[in-house]
Amino acid sequence: MPPASDPTHARPDAAPAAHQAARPEAPADATGRRTSDAVVVVHRSGPLQGEVVVPGAKNSVLKLMAATLLADGTHTLRNVPDIADVGIMSDLLAAIGVTTTSPAPGELILQHSGDLVPVAPYDLVERIRASINVLGPLLGRFGQVRLSLPGGDDFGSRPIDMHLSGLEAMGATITLEHGDVVAFADRLHGADITFEFPSVGATENILTAAVHAKGTTVIDNAAREPEIADLCTMLVSMGAEIEGIGTSRLVVHGVEPGSLRATEHETVPDRIQAATYLAAAAVTGGELFLRGARADHMDMLLRRFVDMGLEIVPQHDGITVHAPERMRSIDVATLPYPGIATDYKPLIVTMLAVADGVGIVTENLYPGRFRYVEELCRLGADIRTDGHHAVVRGRPALSGAPVRAPDIRAGAALVIAGLVADGTTTISGVHHIDRGYDDLVGRLRSVGASIERRPAR
Ligand code: EPU
Repeated sequence: MPPASDPTHARPDAAPAAHQAARPEAPADATGRRTSDAVVVVHRSGPLQGEVVVPGAKNSVLKLMAATLLADGTHTLRNVPDIADVGIMSDLLAAIGVTTTSPAPGELILQHSGDLVPVAPYDLVERIRASINVLGPLLGRFGQVRLSLPGGDDFGSRPIDMHLSGLEAMGATITLEHGDVVAFADRLHGADITFEFPSVGATENILTAAVHAKGTTVIDNAAREPEIADLCTMLVSMGAEIEGIGTSRLVVHGVEPGSLRATEHETVPDRIQAATYLAAAAVTGGELFLRGARADHMDMLLRRFVDMGLEIVPQHDGITVHAPERMRSIDVATLPYPGIATDYKPLIVTMLAVADGVGIVTENLYPGRFRYVEELCRLGADIRTDGHHAVVRGRPALSGAPVRAPDIRAGAALVIAGLVADGTTTISGVHHIDRGYDDLVGRLRSVGASIERRPAR
């Protein structure tokens, strides 16, 4: 095993960043506003028609990038979306000692020789939640890591207690020092871990720590998202031994540290971006083919869209959607996979805002995730929230206005709302959308939306 540096002292000569960040975030001024941000201008659009290629999943690729820390050499990731978060994750990995290059669109090469600095500093961790995914690989492989504790975000507090207690059950000693999580373990050992809740991030961190642990780790009530199965598939191709992929009981037989090898892997398509284009077709009464979308990853959502009156035809290479002139309202509750993902919710609320009838939406993951509702109400939506419920009374159309994207998914939902709003809708805070959407504006315009991106004045 290559020597690890002292995690309390970041090496000043860490490998240089050679990555090409997708669209790096603009600097923020004292109020948090991005100073060189763009706006998206949307006009009411007729039925969208045509084909959209669905990019790779943000919430998979960022974890795949972190998993490359587990083996030296040259890793190749394909179907990598052109999103800002890939650039931020590349910056974090560069600080740790991984060189990232993008020789062709959709392809990312990550290289290192194992001489890594197991430190994730605050300025990078606070920019991207997925930075906590370096915890499991670095601790499992090098026996030490210092990671700045991530804070909450726009939709509430996001603790990592399950990540930490799982690692402690595997023999890690963890302390909190000056805002950092500092973890040590001579070598982690296998453990039986049962999550109170199927946390995506905790499942990923325990998985990537367990691949190098001594003995067998069993994770019960593991998260089952397709992005976790994608991570497992990549880990297996690196030489990890994992049973139960895609189920809520993952069994990981640890291999000797240093025995995993670099790999090539294709990222799963992004089900949240796919749902965004479904929503765009739905509110405009359009018909789209979503090339690459996986209906089997979106089963519950597609069933509910059928309940709303959409015609959905799963195909071997994508999904066709045909929307009625006006959708019917439904009630929806968010749940861990295979339930309706919380990340779909702003899109569903937007669809209900123009559907026929009244729909009740219940949020079971992030109670604070209704901030964007005020922005939708500025567009004329009739939505009342009470705790983790929203009551949405559908209207035939919305009314364009300036609005601000509070986070990635809500930002995309405001764009979709603009397609069915009379007049002009101008969305600011576009850097949020850029974090998770690969050319949302270009893709929507290519199927007939009246939409453009402009520099903010
Ligand atoms: N939770 C705890 N303790 C923990 C871990 C989680 O209390 O140790 C709670 C969280 O506070 C939250 C719930 O469990 O209430 C779900 O958290 P989870 O760990 O499952 O989510 P995550 O890994 O932090 C990922 C996605 C989110 C997505 C959620 C749920 C990434 C980078 N993020 O977050 O995606 O909403 O799973 O599906 O994969 C987004 O892409 O915009 C986004 C926010």
